[in-house]
Amino acid sequence: MTAASTPASGRAAWRADFPIFERQIYLNSCSLGALSRQSRARVQEFLGEWEQRGAAAWYDVWWERLAAVRAAYARAIGTPADGVALHASISTATSVLASLLDYRKRPKVVTTDLDFPTVAYQWLARRAQGVEVVIVRSPDGVTVPAELIARAVDDRTALVATSHVYFTTGAIQNVRAVADAAHRHGAWCYIDAYQSVGQVSVDVHAMGVDFLSGGGLKWLLGGPGIAFLYARQDLLPELDPAVTGWFAHARQFDFDPHTLVRHADARRLEQGTPALAAVHAQLGGFEVLEAIGYPRVREVTAALAHDLVARAQELGLRPHVAPEPDARSAIVMLPSADPAAAVTRLAERGIVADARPGHVRLSPYFYNTVEDHVAALEALRG
Ligand SMILES: Cc1ncc(COP(=O)(O)O)c(C=O)c1O
Repeated sequence: MTAASTPASGRAAWRADFPIFERQIYLNSCSLGALSRQSRARVQEFLGEWEQRGAAAWYDVWWERLAAVRAAYARAIGTPADGVALHASISTATSVLASLLDYRKRPKVVTTDLDFPTVAYQWLARRAQGVEVVIVRSPDGVTVPAELIARAVDDRTALVATSHVYFTTGAIQNVRAVADAAHRHGAWCYIDAYQSVGQVSVDVHAMGVDFLSGGGLKWLLGGPGIAFLYARQDLLPELDPAVTGWFAHARQFDFDPHTLVRHADARRLEQGTPALAAVHAQLGGFEVLEAIGYPRVREVTAALAHDLVARAQELGLRPHVAPEPDARSAIVMLPSADPAAAVTRLAERGIVADARPGHVRLSPYFYNTVEDHVAALEALRG
C-alpha cells in the first residue's frame, strides 16, 4: 500500500483540520496553503489579546511568540533557533541580502530564468550601480542543470541565487551542487526555498548554502505576511546590510539613533515590527506540521505527487514535470490549450486549481487524497 492510498484515520483527521474540504477540493497549496483550524484559533487568540490587553501583550506573550516562530522556522530547515531572521516576504528578505553584498570586486550575480522573478529584480534594480545580472536559461523549461549554473560562475561572482524547487515546474534543484559551484569561486549561494520548505526535505547544513529564504504562504501553512531569511552562522559577524531597521539592533529599546549595534544572531538581518496576525497564523501551521512530523508530511506528499503524475500520464495529459521521479515535487503542470477555461471548469465542480501560461497547475499536499486527483482529472477531461 502506498503512502498516498493509506486510508489511515490519521489522514482523515489531518484533512478534518482544514474546513475548505467540507465544500471544495483544494489542489492549490503551491499558491496558498489551506487554512487550518489551528491557524484560525491562533489568530483568534491574538485578536482576543489585542482587544483585551492592547500593547501590554507585547512584553510577555507576543515577544515570546516571535521567538517561537523563529525557532520553528529554524527547526524546519535543520538549524539552531537563532539562525533565522523574520521578514514580511521573500522580497524583503532578498532585498536585505542584496544590500549586504560587496559588488566592488564581485559585481556579478547569477540566477536562472526559472526562478521567481522577485529574486532577479533585487539585482536588476542595482544595475545602475554596476551590478551584472547573469540569467542562466533552462534548456528544457523544466529545470536548470547545476553544471550550466556552474559554468556561469567565475571569480567576479558575488552570489548565485536560485530556487530549491522551481515554482514554474516543481523540479527540485541539486542545491548542494549549486552551492559547491559558487564556493569554488569564492561566491555565496542563496536559495529561495519558498516552494520547498514543508513539502520537501530542507537541511541547510547538508545543502551547504550560505543564505536561504522561505515562509508561511505555501507549504508551511502560515498564510501571507510572514517569511524568514537564514544566514550561515559563521558569516553573521560580517553581515551588515544597508537595508535594515530597529529589530536588527542589539539594544533596540535604547532607542539610540547614534549607534547601530547589530544583534550577533540572525536578527541582525531583520527590519521592523513583524505582522503579528501572520505570526500567529504561522504558529497554527507549525502546530499541524510538527504534530504530523515533516518526514511523514513529505512521504505522503511525495506519494500523492507520484500518483497524480502517473494518472495524468495514463490519461495522455503529458505532465510537464522533471523526467527523473526523484527530482519532482508536488507542483504538477498539465499542458492546456486554454488554462483559464480549464480552471473555471474545475471551479464549477468545486475544485480549486490554478492557471499558468499554457498550463493548469495542480499542487496536492498531505491533506489531499487520490480521490481528489481522480475528480480533478475527470473534470479536466471533461
Ligand atoms: C519561489 C517563490 N519565490 C518568491 C515568491 C514571491 O515572494 P514574496 O511575494 O513573498 O516576495 C513566490 C510566490 O509567491 C514563489 O513561488
